[in-house]
Amino acid sequence: MEYSILLVDDEEDFCQALGQRLERMGYIVYTATCGRDALTVFRDVNPMIVLMDVMLPDNNGLDLMKQMKTENPDTEVIIITGHGNMELAIKSFQYDATDFITKPIDREALEQALDLATKKMFDRRRLQKSAENKAMRDVVINELVNDDVLVIGADYRIIDINLPMLCKLGVTREEVIGRFCYEVTHHQNSPCSGKDHPCPLIQSFNTKKPFQTTHVHLDNQNREIYYSISCYPIFGNGQPTSAIEMFRDITHEINKQKNLLQQSKLASIGRLAAGVAHEINNPLTTILTTAMLSQEDIEPKNPMYKELEIIASETLRCRKIVVALLDFARQSKPLKKEYNLKELIEEIVLLTKKQAAFKDVRVESYCAADVGTVQIDKGQLQQAIINLILNGIESTDSGGEVSVIAKIDPDPGYVEIQIRDTGKGIPKEDLDKVFDPFYTTKESGTGLGLAITNGIIDQHGGVITVSTHVGQGSTFTIRLPFRQDGPNVC
Ligand SMILES: Nc1ncnc2c1ncn2[C@@H]1O[C@H](COP(=O)(O)OP(=O)(O)OP(=O)(O)O)[C@@H](O)[C@H]1O
Ligand SMILES: [Mg+2]
Repeated sequence: MEYSILLVDDEEDFCQALGQRLERMGYIVYTATCGRDALTVFRDVNPMIVLMDVMLPDNNGLDLMKQMKTENPDTEVIIITGHGNMELAIKSFQYDATDFITKPIDREALEQALDLATKKMFDRRRLQKSAENKAMRDVVINELVNDDVLVIGADYRIIDINLPMLCKLGVTREEVIGRFCYEVTHHQNSPCSGKDHPCPLIQSFNTKKPFQTTHVHLDNQNREIYYSISCYPIFGNGQPTSAIEMFRDITHEINKQKNLLQQSKLASIGRLAAGVAHEINNPLTTILTTAMLSQEDIEPKNPMYKELEIIASETLRCRKIVVALLDFARQSKPLKKEYNLKELIEEIVLLTKKQAAFKDVRVESYCAADVGTVQIDKGQLQQAIINLILNGIESTDSGGEVSVIAKIDPDPGYVEIQIRDTGKGIPKEDLDKVFDPFYTTKESGTGLGLAITNGIIDQHGGVITVSTHVGQGSTFTIRLPFRQDGPNVC
């Protein structure tokens, strides 16, 4: 690139000689021998560098320099001075002179001053570019991208975050900038690692290429959010120095897929279970009746009496399983009617209070005033929520609480019912199994409660998810569609 220089000196010979030297060095040179001419040429050609004597016949060089800097602050001005004008030269730095050189001009000093001027120009452009890039990045990440975006430095510290992500995490920008990315997104104190949770930053830094992966993050309520992450390295001097990570929330899609898988598993198990349950129900009734009739024929003191009692109670237990199986297998479509959700939940909570009192566990409901009405099959939804409350009670120690919370979901058109307990929680490795039929950790459980609940919620066009912390409790969240155009008063 060719640089232009305006050379200003009242000694014409000096101007000519130095001008030729500069041209040989590859510069385009303009000359002026007084302040007035210099300003005219300056305005005409807008030179990148001005090389000027500090003493001019018609002008104080410093005033001229001030004028030029006002008109174009990007111009680099190098002051030429004789030994007697040192003070003026030093003063010139107050007006942002780049450097000064003394007469007679030494080649090395001239080259150094010009190098400094070009370097300053180059740095300023880079700064401007990065400011432009930053402004552009701000617009892109905050206005044009719907996904969540983080800009992360090589030290894992967050440099920038966009508004959608701030909203999702429920934090302010000041709370996040400068913190480690893994702290903010995973609530952990070391970087992600391993095959299942590779660190996108490290991967893209190592390969110097974009990297894509899926991570599970925790929001401020410790709910799991599945993110598809794309990481793009940003380079400085050929090396990655930071990275832009874009996060797409795919929780909805993942849950839908899990649900579909669960439903197809349930459908085949359901058909099998329905057939078996029907076949078993009749013989069970016969065993139970026979045991009870035989008991009537003998004295309670007779050792057989106790044994018959065991037969009867174990048969009753089998019948409980069969009834649950039939419930689970029942593919009946819900008969939906409009119900006030707050009233319905209060009714359900009342039904479970007795059970809870046995364990000294409180059951409470908290309904937002605007939850309004929902279209549901009352019996089925009652059964689903009762299953969840009973699980909560069973997992909670005396003195704990199970709460049922209903509110309008941030997802438009959905209402959210949460069943929270302060119980023992579910270990991470078991979380995927809890909705499986027959999965139980209880001695007398059928393992069908959650499978039935899941089926009912699905039949209502809703979804159920769970978040849990071992030792702290679990939250099962039901999201049900509700008619937004319908009545919406409690
Ligand atoms: N709130 C909860 N807290 C801790 N663990 C739970 C909770 N809810 C469910 N689980 C776990 O999931 C398993 C399956 O629950 P599910 O309701 O399907 O069957 P169950 O409660 O074992 O049996 P049933 O409902 O027939 O009495 C439970 O055995 C328990 O291990
Ligand atoms: Mg249960």
